[in-house]
Amino acid sequence: MRKPFVAGNWKMNTDSQGSVELAKAVADGSLGAAGQSVDVAVCPPFVYLKSVAGAVSSSNIAVGAQDMYYEAKGAFTGEISASMLKDIGCTYVLCGHSERRHVIGETDELINKKVAAAIGGGLLPILCVGELQSEREASQTQDVVTRHVKEGLAGLSAEKASAVTIAYEPVWAIGTGLTATPQQAQEVHSFIRELLGRIYDSELAEEIRIQYGGSVKPASAAELMGQTDIDGLLVGGASLKSDDFLAIIQAAL
Ligand code: 13P
Repeated sequence: MRKPFVAGNWKMNTDSQGSVELAKAVADGSLGAAGQSVDVAVCPPFVYLKSVAGAVSSSNIAVGAQDMYYEAKGAFTGEISASMLKDIGCTYVLCGHSERRHVIGETDELINKKVAAAIGGGLLPILCVGELQSEREASQTQDVVTRHVKEGLAGLSAEKASAVTIAYEPVWAIGTGLTATPQQAQEVHSFIRELLGRIYDSELAEEIRIQYGGSVKPASAAELMGQTDIDGLLVGGASLKSDDFLAIIQAAL
């Protein structure tokens, strides 16, 4: 039985005071819920990770980073390692978010190195996958998702891969208000689970959690969570409003 997992990706939003206030509001509002029957994480910008980790330390809310670099230390100006994230209280790290793939230009090869280094450093990676609108229109969704999953997990044993959460985030649904219908999302989630079964085995495929992300709102959360292969939600805009994010957590219970 896969435990639901809701994560809020704050992207490049909030400030030092607002990030702590938002984190506290989420921690206070989800008392009892998180940790019992749903895992919850918030992913603030790097510079607020430590203060947010402090603000949620007596709750069951976990903290995740939005990215990391795969090297352990050294001359990599501007980069942040897995051990640094672990050191300040991170549990999770997003790898290969669509904005990093399409705005920053990250490749599957780089993302794979990040996923492996995250696991090696004791973090739980959330590997983000998903097609562009043009790729969906060209019936390439399965090809793109296959490439993102296969190349993202390349070289990882089943044991290591079991540390990964996959987030299916169709790029056309991110920040656009266009949520994939629960049926569209379920179709891709079930495809990803089958693919995991082919890459590894059915036991691992049943174990790995697959989140949906893309314009998730309180009104759409319950129906998405009602789908067989949707195990959680990766929430952008709606995670910046504590009431909305708490309502989404409730919908995942
Ligand atoms: P929105 O919920 O704002 O569409 O963002 C989704 C997302 O990219 C989460 O990682």
